[in-house]
Amino acid sequence: MGDGTQLVISLNEELQRRLAAIREQDLYRELWRMDSPQGPRIETAGRTLLNFSSNDYLGLASHPALKEAAIKAVERFGAGSGASRLLCGSLAPHHELEEALAAFKGVEAALSFSSGYAAAAGTICALLGNDDIIILDKLVHACLVDAARLCGAKLRSASSITTISMIWRRCSNGLIGGTSYTSPHLRL
Ligand SMILES: Cc1ncc(COP(=O)(O)O)c(C=O)c1O
Repeated sequence: MGDGTQLVISLNEELQRRLAAIREQDLYRELWRMDSPQGPRIETAGRTLLNFSSNDYLGLASHPALKEAAIKAVERFGAGSGASRLLCGSLAPHHELEEALAAFKGVEAALSFSSGYAAAAGTICALLGNDDIIILDKLVHACLVDAARLCGAKLRSASSITTISMIWRRCSNGLIGGTSYTSPHLRL
């Protein structure tokens, strides 16, 4: 048995050990199959359930106009981009969407991402870096925590507006190193 094989066996054992620890803490999660589209009622394992956990608040996932537009776009442009937008050409429907979004918001430009996770990673890492400080509410979505870690900024988490104010004041007074930016949406 070569070294490589031994390494794979050890990795499997290590992964099993970690999975067992996750199960022991009751943190093991599994995907469950859904046999219907997203909507107020969903079907799973032969049962119809009321759906209270979706983020599809406006019912856009199954909206007839969006489905029709998606079908037309697939017929015309296919089902994949082929490569990153920067590399191999950025498809016309993306530009049309971004122009429409920018006009709707009355701003210079808009950029669309294929997921919330990608939006957090893409924007936070583009705007902030090693010299910056990010104050995160303790309950923000995990993608914001990952993006904040990835961009290399100093991280402070807070569970109340009082703590956020306190950290903000310490940043502004230079007691915590890094650049602090203010925003018209932030009133502390
Ligand atoms: C506030 C918030 N941000 C980000 C995400 C991640 O979005 P996605 O699953 O599209 O990556 C979610 C997903 O539920 C969310 O609720």
